[in-house]
Amino acid sequence: MEIVIRPDYDGLSDTACSIVRAELARKPDLVLGLATGRTPLGLYERLRKSGDSFAKVRFFDLDEFYGLGPSHPDSFQHFLRTRFLDPVGAAPGNVRLLRGDVADLEAEARDYEEAIRGAGGIDLQILGIGRNGHIGFNEPGSSLGSRTRPKTLTPEVLAHYVRDIDPLSRMTSFALTMGVGTIMEARKLLMLACGPEKADIVRQFVEGPITAEVPASMLQLHRSAVVVLDEAAAAGLKRRDYYKWVFENKWRVGQK
Ligand code: PGA
Repeated sequence: MEIVIRPDYDGLSDTACSIVRAELARKPDLVLGLATGRTPLGLYERLRKSGDSFAKVRFFDLDEFYGLGPSHPDSFQHFLRTRFLDPVGAAPGNVRLLRGDVADLEAEARDYEEAIRGAGGIDLQILGIGRNGHIGFNEPGSSLGSRTRPKTLTPEVLAHYVRDIDPLSRMTSFALTMGVGTIMEARKLLMLACGPEKADIVRQFVEGPITAEVPASMLQLHRSAVVVLDEAAAAGLKRRDYYKWVFENKWRVGQK
């Protein structure tokens, strides 16, 4: 895992944007896994303004609320289409996002895995992290080998996203999520975390044990995972100064 610590959210978004653009320059038909949430918004804004062509890029996403179709304003699909995919001119045939409004969630999950395989696998997966350590909607206790599947959300996570809905209602307590095992198969992972409220979980997943209690800790086993943090999210890391030194000096051994 490479840990990159930037002074603030703008710096984090700039670095994340450079990483995505470098992958896109290398492979114009990149298979890109998107994340929702507040954290990647600065990245998406910069990519929208970059002028790069996303015409050949193939897109997937991490998760979706059960029961919400693409046109529902609270759906992740709606979020990604309005904030990113439509503005960058994604080709409709290149976009395969999870649907929460299907009758058979298991069939949707199987079909999604098949679509990822059909695209040749994900080249770059963008990730955020929940304060409970989830990636996608893989809540604490999720199998570290899991595949795309329906998942029950924790009340805390539901409350974070859907303020006005009864957390026990069947419609909103479930989601579809890419599994931890599915995420781990992406060739490169780009995790973003910012703000003091993420400092404790960042310390746990970067420097703590690998455990299903903190699903993001699986990134420690990935061969090409970059974690971009702002100073506030990095505040609890023991080896903070070391990570900064590596980032500033790795060019000495020919690394970008
Ligand atoms: P956030 O969400 O970017 O809004 O903090 C991240 C997550 O819960 O995965």
